[in-house]
Amino acid sequence: MLELSEIYGHIQEDLYRVEDLLESMCLVNFPHLSALLGHSLRKGGKKLRPVLTLLSGKFYDYDLDRLLPMAASIEILHSATLVHDDAIDKSSVRRGQPTVNALWGEEQAVLLGDYLFAEAGALTASTGNLRVIKLFAETLKTISSGELNQALNAFNLEQSPDQYYERVGKKTAALFAMATESGAVLGRAPEESVQVLIRYGYGLGIAFQIIDDVLDFTSSEEELGKPVGSDLTQGTFTLPAMLLLKRYPRKNPVTRWFRSRTDPADARQAIEMVRNSPAIVQECFQIASGLCEEACRDLKLLPACPSRQSLYDLANYMVQRRK
Ligand code: IPE
Ligand code: IPE
Ligand code: MG
Ligand code: MG
Repeated sequence: MLELSEIYGHIQEDLYRVEDLLESMCLVNFPHLSALLGHSLRKGGKKLRPVLTLLSGKFYDYDLDRLLPMAASIEILHSATLVHDDAIDKSSVRRGQPTVNALWGEEQAVLLGDYLFAEAGALTASTGNLRVIKLFAETLKTISSGELNQALNAFNLEQSPDQYYERVGKKTAALFAMATESGAVLGRAPEESVQVLIRYGYGLGIAFQIIDDVLDFTSSEEELGKPVGSDLTQGTFTLPAMLLLKRYPRKNPVTRWFRSRTDPADARQAIEMVRNSPAIVQECFQIASGLCEEACRDLKLLPACPSRQSLYDLANYMVQRRK
């Protein structure tokens, strides 16, 4: 498997510029806020979404100065959703570090998330491009409605895979699609190419979340840098759990856990069952793989260039990644 740095090596310098811009956002005249911002924007992360923006902007009229604020905005928007997500989940670790809520409390996490959303909005507005400004607002609405849906349906067993895909489309894929669409628009791509890149981003986003949901069962905190097993414990009914229930409909620990929520051993048993069911894990990987293939189908309509190859490689990475 190619490492991420190999996949987008040819835009590495541009990505450093995005990181410099993120760094500059941390320098505010209020030391406490500077510390909060530094903690959530400086500490690693795979930077997949700004990479998608830069790559999508490369096909026609690449102007890094036009793309930089957008790429930074997307990473900040992503970070804001994570800060809020960790506060909602009362999660203590992210990117191998204590979360904002663990260090400073939930109230500070909520307020920092708001600050980051506004910072991201201001950066998007600085592009002066009305289409991406509207896209930013719409995407933030979509992500919020996906997260509201997830919270409302916690511990609800009456959910179909279609409902799962719809929710994942909102909470995760919408941001991936925004990353590719905004890059393409600011890179002055013709509309047909913009649409190709939107479909690519969206499909990749769904596949990405499916794999994230599998890794929540099969990986370790050490490898992921965030707690595992938490989806089921928190009552989030994800694809691997749905497949487990379909395979073993009777006396399933997922059912027991969701119905009674009295014995965490039920959740642990369900996690063990998924870990020990290569067929379920494989089915999830196959579904994700199919979505990535589908997402790449029209990339051939884009001009051949190193960025196009990076998009193919990223799609492969999605279904091979282990962290
Ligand atoms: C985590 O996204 C949130 C999900 C959509 C699953 P990433 O795995 O891209 O997070 P970082 O930025 O690399 O930490
Ligand atoms: C993605 O879902 C979160 C957002 C879209 C905000 P998860 O809840 O699975 O993310 P992780 O696993 O905590 O990173
Ligand atoms: Mg979470
Ligand atoms: Mg997760």
